[in-house]
Amino acid sequence: MSILVFDSGVGGLTVLREARVLMPDRRYIYVADDAGFPYGDWEEAALLDRMTALFGELIERFRPELFMIACNTASTLAIDHLRKVYPEQTFVGTVPAIKPAAERTRSGLVSVLATPGTVKRQYTRDLIRDWASKVNVRLVGSTELARLAERYARGGMVDEEEVLREIEPCFVEQDGKLTDIVVLACTHYPFLVNRMRKVAPWPVDWIDPSEAIARRALSLVRQGAPEEGSDIAWFTSGAPDAATQRFLGGFGLAFE
Ligand code: DGL
Repeated sequence: MSILVFDSGVGGLTVLREARVLMPDRRYIYVADDAGFPYGDWEEAALLDRMTALFGELIERFRPELFMIACNTASTLAIDHLRKVYPEQTFVGTVPAIKPAAERTRSGLVSVLATPGTVKRQYTRDLIRDWASKVNVRLVGSTELARLAERYARGGMVDEEEVLREIEPCFVEQDGKLTDIVVLACTHYPFLVNRMRKVAPWPVDWIDPSEAIARRALSLVRQGAPEEGSDIAWFTSGAPDAATQRFLGGFGLAFE
């Protein structure tokens, strides 16, 4: 039995990294639905159908002890549905860290940087209503950042002007106050956070929820003997390019 970490691309590796720190004795299977990337652009009903079928396949193929859905775009759409359809499975989701941001902000101006899909979700709106009703939350949907992060992961290059263009709407000045927190509500974004910091109009706290997600998973896994076998990556396209395979190798993942 192992832990399956799922994303549309390489973003979930930012969650895998934290999971390994807290649960070093587990075996990890990293699954990317790269044939469906980017999830942020999908129409909801079609993506829900795709994920429901794909998770059925993943259960059959890998039989993990726990699924970590390391993707905000996927979790905010599908986690409740997957729990209903596959009640015997354990799912840990990744949803925008709006509650901790609302608790921490001093200026009362928070931005949530996410894919267009996550920004549109009812789930995200409900989080704001439930946990941040006294805070001014700006939702910023980025069409390009997940792609930029994929490219960066593969080749190590990123255009800082493009990064700035995508994050600029997060920075709000209102009644003499400035945005002081940006929630990274897409698991791809922590790969670019140093660039974001560099080009940001002013310093802010960037909230990356990976560690909190790993903690939640830790509370759900069975304690006991370490898992056998090496960690692997499985991509729905069948064959990621050599640069991606090298990148996965850097995370100790053999390509299956
Ligand atoms: N990594 C995903 C997330 O956390 C999204 C990337 C995509 O658009 O597929 O939302």
